[in-house]
Amino acid sequence: MSVTVRVPAKVNVQLAVGAARPDGFHDLANVFLAVGLYDEVTVTPADELRITCEGPDAGQVPLDRGNLAARAAIALAERRGIEPAVHLHITKDIPVAGGMAGGSADGAGALLACNTLWGTGASRAELLAICAELGSDVPFSLVGGAALGVGRGELLTSLEVGGTFHWVFAMAGRGLSTPAVFREFDRLAEGCDIPEPVASRELLDALAKGDPDALAAAVSNDLQPAALSLFPELSDTLAAGRAAGALTALVSGSGPTTAFLARDPESATKIADVLRASGTCRTVRTATAPAPGATVLTTSATA
Ligand code: C5P
Repeated sequence: MSVTVRVPAKVNVQLAVGAARPDGFHDLANVFLAVGLYDEVTVTPADELRITCEGPDAGQVPLDRGNLAARAAIALAERRGIEPAVHLHITKDIPVAGGMAGGSADGAGALLACNTLWGTGASRAELLAICAELGSDVPFSLVGGAALGVGRGELLTSLEVGGTFHWVFAMAGRGLSTPAVFREFDRLAEGCDIPEPVASRELLDALAKGDPDALAAAVSNDLQPAALSLFPELSDTLAAGRAAGALTALVSGSGPTTAFLARDPESATKIADVLRASGTCRTVRTATAPAPGATVLTTSATA
């Protein structure tokens, strides 16, 4: 018996960041949009917990118990008093350390896959609670679609999306550490008055209408200056995509992946071609949004 779950990447169309809290996290108003780039997690019974990974970036994925997929299996097994004796295989298509919640996707995917394999029957609410323990972005990977995340990003309200958005993503030659980007945010904000993070009404309306021009006018990412400060070359990628006709260009989450909103599929293809030729990034992908959350693809009787 094995179970395969598919989980989407995300882009943050709004990432409003408040001041650092006593626990070191930051309060957020985080508007997540799931995009059609996916990791797959396959779970199979094994003698003991082990992880393997395939895909172009597989070499950068830690295969120890710190991997969010392993932590998810352990967390569910501990709650049920069973051993997490499984082989987790990750087929990785979401960039590693890219600001697109690839690690979180693997955590949510492993959790749903193990819950299915073991027949543990965890409710949606329990799965979401485990996801929130694993990381701020993990609940959204389970839910998908579009959602506003508050608190440290884990308290979700699903959002209406009235159409399909066409995106282009440029993957950078190296990753960025999320904690390092938040630390840089704190450094840049020193001495400034940081307002409470609040979701933008214009942005929520643009999503609900499925209006790419209105969405482009409303996107924002408070982590972008920090990401650009640590990775200044990203400005060249953003400029190349804008010049190719992107309605807007922004850093995805904590970066360094950059995201470009296109008016239609033809424009997305053109922006992708220009970015590929620009020499300012490693790879370029197009994807549509919203995408569904973690989904069981197959349960098979054979390992
Ligand atoms: O929750 P997660 O483990 O994904 O967070 C990774 C790191 O990102 C945290 O350790 C913290 O440094 C930073 N972070 C933050 N505020 C948030 C979410 C993440 O400072 N709301």
